[in-house]
Amino acid sequence: MTNKTLFPEGFLWGGAIAANQAEGAWNIDGKGMSVADIAMYKPDIDIKDYVKQWHIGLEDIDNAMKATEDAYYPKRRGIDFYHKYKEDIALFKEMGFKTLRVSIAWARIFPNGNEEKPNEKGLKFYEDLFKELRESNIEPLVTLSHYEMPLYLVNNYDGWVSRDLVDMFVKYAKVCFERYKGLVKYWLTFNEIDSVFRHAFTTLGVVEDKYANKKEAEKAIYQALHHQFIAAALATKYCHKIISNSQVGCMVTKTLTYPETCNPDDIILAQRDNRNNFIYTDVQVLGEYPRYLLNYLKKNNIEIKMNEGDEAILKQYTSDFIAFSYYMSMVQSVNAEQREKVGGNLVTGVKNPYLPISEWGWQVDPKGLRVSLIDLYDRYRKPLWIVENGIGAYDKVEEDGSINDDYRIEYFRKHFEQIGLAIDEGVECMGYTSWACIDIVSASTSQMSKRYGFIYVDADDLGNGTYKRSKKKSFYWYKKVISSNGADLD
Ligand code: BG6
Repeated sequence: MTNKTLFPEGFLWGGAIAANQAEGAWNIDGKGMSVADIAMYKPDIDIKDYVKQWHIGLEDIDNAMKATEDAYYPKRRGIDFYHKYKEDIALFKEMGFKTLRVSIAWARIFPNGNEEKPNEKGLKFYEDLFKELRESNIEPLVTLSHYEMPLYLVNNYDGWVSRDLVDMFVKYAKVCFERYKGLVKYWLTFNEIDSVFRHAFTTLGVVEDKYANKKEAEKAIYQALHHQFIAAALATKYCHKIISNSQVGCMVTKTLTYPETCNPDDIILAQRDNRNNFIYTDVQVLGEYPRYLLNYLKKNNIEIKMNEGDEAILKQYTSDFIAFSYYMSMVQSVNAEQREKVGGNLVTGVKNPYLPISEWGWQVDPKGLRVSLIDLYDRYRKPLWIVENGIGAYDKVEEDGSINDDYRIEYFRKHFEQIGLAIDEGVECMGYTSWACIDIVSASTSQMSKRYGFIYVDADDLGNGTYKRSKKKSFYWYKKVISSNGADLD
């Protein structure tokens, strides 16, 4: 059944992946080692213990660098998108994608991050990829940094704690803008820049174990984050200069928190968490550190070293649009200790009795997406782009080869209805790219069996399989959604 569509004409429907989870080819054509190549698949890990999944210490780095066997480092092989991208793009085209979100692996362009000259083979790979997308009428949306900085910068510079990384990143960004100016119009700077406190290693190259205590690690993280803010602002500046019609977005995890009750103490706790989530967009969209953060830093004796002119850079080069990921909502309660907890892509929170949870313990909340869209739009009045949203599930291949992922269809249907309603309430939404449109390696658990795609990839957690692609039931459903511009969700 086709209803009147609430989605605007030209709405950018599509999907999203990231280089480190899809490409594989981790040491091919001159690519340097990245932070993602260190991430281990641990069969005995508690998939609901988010903090443990992400923890990487000095010993882990050392072991990974020495490892001769790659089986337990799934991001090194991804889904071999590096060699199979043409086949995958043909499938995205068949679904009718208007856009595809991909990222560039910095270590493919500058293997250690600090070289004089870029690696031509890396540049060529992305040039061919973007050309293929253009020829397929798919608009590329490109993230400059999605959890894949060169490992050399961790081992030799303390990651983003070092100011030197600003220059290196800006140089890398400029090389990309120059090379891809005729091919890419939409750019994102740092994926989920707010994840710095959830996994400092992957986002900032900060190894927390190196610091004397939590306080010192926190100081280092704020310093490193400041450098990323400056690098993002400067990348935005040069992108506009080099590519005249470009649009650059910041990218955050939308972490909506509800109060458990109308007890004002619950409300204050939830408000605190929601404000903490706004820090990153406040800086990148409003162009300044919010007063609540400045007060916190002062009270806690955290001094961020800023260069002269940093404040002006933040003020001048703000984001054109806000891109965000949305997977779940959270609950805060003064009685949290006595409440049942759930996991998620955040830290553990109080369980919401009104919401179902995924097999990984993530609370599924489509209406929370509507609330998030409205909150973000009301606060910033900037166009929004949902660049990640989806459900990780164990999919079953039937004897006849079919994959009947009705739960995924149901998940998307409910979220699309809510996006439509938010648009109806005046929210400007540019597009939607599902995470991940094809099965890829999970960011947190490094599992292949945590599947998000409309396209199934025949591979297991240890890399066994043919890597053959096949269409799930949701493939056909999403195709219909796109061709009706969101009117047909049946
Ligand atoms: C987001 C990341 O946080 O969540 C993605 O930007 C990630 O890289 C996605 O894959 C889903 O998380 P996971 O751990 O299930 O892969």
